[in-house]
Amino acid sequence: GPPADLTGRHVLVSAGGTREPLDPVRFLGNRSSGKQGYALAAVAAARGARVTLVSANASLPVPPGVDVVEIETALELQDAVREALPGVDVIVMAAAVADFRPRAYQDNKIKKTHGPGQEDAAPSVELVRNPDILAGLVADRGTGRTPLIVGFAAETGDDSGDVLTHARAKLERKGCDLLVANEVGRDVTFGKDDSLVHLLRPGQDEARTVGPASKTVIAAAVWDEVVQLWTAVPGV
Ligand code: C5P
Repeated sequence: GPPADLTGRHVLVSAGGTREPLDPVRFLGNRSSGKQGYALAAVAAARGARVTLVSANASLPVPPGVDVVEIETALELQDAVREALPGVDVIVMAAAVADFRPRAYQDNKIKKTHGPGQEDAAPSVELVRNPDILAGLVADRGTGRTPLIVGFAAETGDDSGDVLTHARAKLERKGCDLLVANEVGRDVTFGKDDSLVHLLRPGQDEARTVGPASKTVIAAAVWDEVVQLWTAVPGV
C-alpha cells in the first residue's frame, strides 16, 4: 500500500473552481473540474493524513476519509479556509479562484428589454477584485513557516522554458513554499485526466517535472515534495 508518511498531519486542500453569481440563475465561472484537488485529497488520506477539502462546485465523489466543506464563491472559499486553518500543517491551494466578481448581485433575473430600438440593448457588468487568498495566507503567517503553503499556477507558453520563467516569477511574487506549475494548452489539464507539471521551490534552480501523468501520480509527487520540505526544514 501507500506510505503512511502523512500520519499525524492535518492537510487542507482547496479544489474546483469558484462561481461568482450575477443573478439567481447566472454566474461567472471557470473550467476547473476539481480533479487535481480531489486526487490530492484522496492520496493524502491514503497516506494517513487528516484531510479537509474545501470544494468549489466540483461534481466528483468525495474520497474516503476526507472531510468536505462545500462552497461556491471566492469569498466563501476564503472564509472556509480561515475557519479550517487552526492546526493545519499544510495548505494546498489547487482551486481556481475567480480574480473578479460582479460588484452587485441582482436579486431578480436580469431581463432582456423588448421593443423598438431595444434589440441591441445589453447590460454592462461591473467587476471588482477578489482577494488573493493564497497571498493572504502567506502574509498572515508572518515570518514563520507554519503552515506550509503550496500554490498552483496554470501557465501557457511556447515551450517548457517559457512556462518555467513565468512560474518562477509567480513563486517569488506569491511567496509560497512550493509552486505546482501546470502547462496548459498542450491538450492537458482542464477537465482532463492527465497533466504535465513543474514543481518549483524558492531558491532551487532545478524544477522537478512530472508527467504527462495521471492526476493521482501528480498528487503523489506533490505530497513527496511536501514530506521532503518537512525533512529539510525541521520543526515545521
Ligand atoms: O495568480 P494566479 O491566479 O495564477 O495564482 C494561482 C494560485 O493562487 C492558485 O494556488 C490559486 O488557488 C491561488 N489564488 C488565490 N486567490 C485568488 C486567485 C488565485 O488563492 N484570488
